[in-house]
Amino acid sequence: MQDRYTPAQLDTWRRDGVVLIPDFFTADEVAAVTADFRQVFDRTGADDPLVKKKDGEVGRFKPAQFKGVQSVPIDCSPALNLLGVHPALVGFAKAALTSDEVHLYQCQAWAKFTGEADYEQPFHCDYVNHTLTAPSDDAHLNSVTFICIFSDVTEAHGPTHYVTRPDSLKVAGPEATLSGDPAVQQQLKPYERSAAGPAGSLFVYGIDIWHRGTNLVAPGGHRYVMTVCFKNARNSAIDFHAWQFHHTQPWRHIFDHATPDQLACFGVQRPGDPFWTETTLARAQTRYPNWDMTPYREAVARREKALA
Ligand SMILES: [Fe+2]
Repeated sequence: MQDRYTPAQLDTWRRDGVVLIPDFFTADEVAAVTADFRQVFDRTGADDPLVKKKDGEVGRFKPAQFKGVQSVPIDCSPALNLLGVHPALVGFAKAALTSDEVHLYQCQAWAKFTGEADYEQPFHCDYVNHTLTAPSDDAHLNSVTFICIFSDVTEAHGPTHYVTRPDSLKVAGPEATLSGDPAVQQQLKPYERSAAGPAGSLFVYGIDIWHRGTNLVAPGGHRYVMTVCFKNARNSAIDFHAWQFHHTQPWRHIFDHATPDQLACFGVQRPGDPFWTETTLARAQTRYPNWDMTPYREAVARREKALA
């Protein structure tokens, strides 16, 4: 799995806080996830963009920009539902966070369509809704955030724009995101870069990185991405979803297809964990009748045999 990114790309992320990795996902993976997006977001973009922002104005957050956001699990195939715990993504997250045990704390599909909103946003840092305090400069105590791109994103398809960490530090630290100061927006502008890329690209950034959404202006255009965030599993200060809160969603699409390593990213105890007993095995199997619990069951059997 290591060959999906290079050590140099990981170093770029450590230094700049951002890296764009083309061809991270295979053509087959892109095709499968794209088919899920088409099924779930059964609509197309309009011919004309919605433009609310006047020339020279800074973009704004608007609820319509988030209309096409759905967190997993979603009623579609395992391709989309398990994308966030793709072993190559988990591997990158472990290396980035210098942690053997990582937790998936955000995983959502986000479809944008020309004309559905004016997607132009101000520069901002995401930490305000990922932690109650502040982002750390220590990657192990921070998080890594991914935008997985599943449609061809040109400048006309609303690419994320960003400022690298070294460039933004010439202007303002991430805490300036709290002030909404328009002067900061203007000062960041000369350093703005684009994360446009073809389907299959991976944009890696962080909760302390200045970035913003841009508008879709391509006639009939759409942009399919998944936002995926990992933290060191022992970091309780950073979070987004409480997965349990989404209990009415179709978790079977995840449990019936995920490996124990993938489920561990959602907080499910691994085989051999003391949580697993004959009782908890039976209860969990009742909840997910088609979950293959063999590794969990075998670990309990081994433990009971050792105690006998
Ligand atoms: Fe953001």
